[in-house]
Amino acid sequence: MAQVIINRLKKTFPPPTKDGDPVVAIGDISLEVEGNVFVSIVGPSGCGKSTLLNILSGVETPTSGTVSVTEGGRAAHLGYVFQDARLLPWRTVMDNMLYVRDDGDAGETKATRYLDMVGLSHTHDMFPGQLSGGMQQRVGIARAFSVEPDLLLMDEPFSHLDAITARSLRDHLQELWSATRKTVLFVTHDVVEAVQLSDRIIVLAPGGRIFDDISIDLPHPRRATDPKVATLQAEILGRFEEMHPAPATA
Ligand SMILES: Nc1ncnc2c1ncn2[C@@H]1O[C@H](COP(=O)(O)OP(=O)(O)OP(=O)(O)O)[C@@H](O)[C@H]1O
Ligand SMILES: [Mg+2]
Repeated sequence: MAQVIINRLKKTFPPPTKDGDPVVAIGDISLEVEGNVFVSIVGPSGCGKSTLLNILSGVETPTSGTVSVTEGGRAAHLGYVFQDARLLPWRTVMDNMLYVRDDGDAGETKATRYLDMVGLSHTHDMFPGQLSGGMQQRVGIARAFSVEPDLLLMDEPFSHLDAITARSLRDHLQELWSATRKTVLFVTHDVVEAVQLSDRIIVLAPGGRIFDDISIDLPHPRRATDPKVATLQAEILGRFEEMHPAPATA
């Protein structure tokens, strides 16, 4: 289980035009996440969600402040899921699963187990082009879990899927998460999705600041049709509507 410590993090990008102002992607964020928790980061477009994940993974550097992602005192192993599965089209499903590992038969046994858990045991020898978008994304999610990362970073993994497919994938994700209890940081703009999946929801506001930090204390897995889930979703959506855009300052 990973430990994430974010301290006074700021990220500013250069002005997009010559006379423009710098873009404040992350205003000033301090945050700690630790243990076997599923944490969602929710907020409107442009509020710095992807930038935050990019800084945690080392793709971007902070303008100021610090981040630390560790596991038992060493740097944590990270896994990623993006909006698209990013499978290599010329490799079979199994070869895509194994591409991220170097442990031979043990790797294949694990890959098989995780593909089974997302209902894709019949696709081992198929190519990505023979799968639907939802099936490809299931492979991507199974692959990310199969490397057994300390921290899994997920950036809007269901946003390109239709509502029915997304709903089914949320159930697969909950099954995988319940079985593994990895530390997950899950970015979404969908509050309803966040309530169904998360132990904790960090709400970001425009200007990249924390607007709210909400604990969700309901047992997993949660059904979308569960009245308790629906009641909480309505309550948190109400809080979300109170958010007012803040002027961005460098
Ligand atoms: N590499 C970059 N160069 C310049 N500006 C950037 C860069 N990456 C992000 N930004 C800007 O930083 C702000 C935050 O972007 P970010 O992608 O983190 O938002 P987001 O919350 O993930 O939005 P979305 O929900 O649309 O994915 C935006 O104004 C964006 O234009
Ligand atoms: Mg984004």
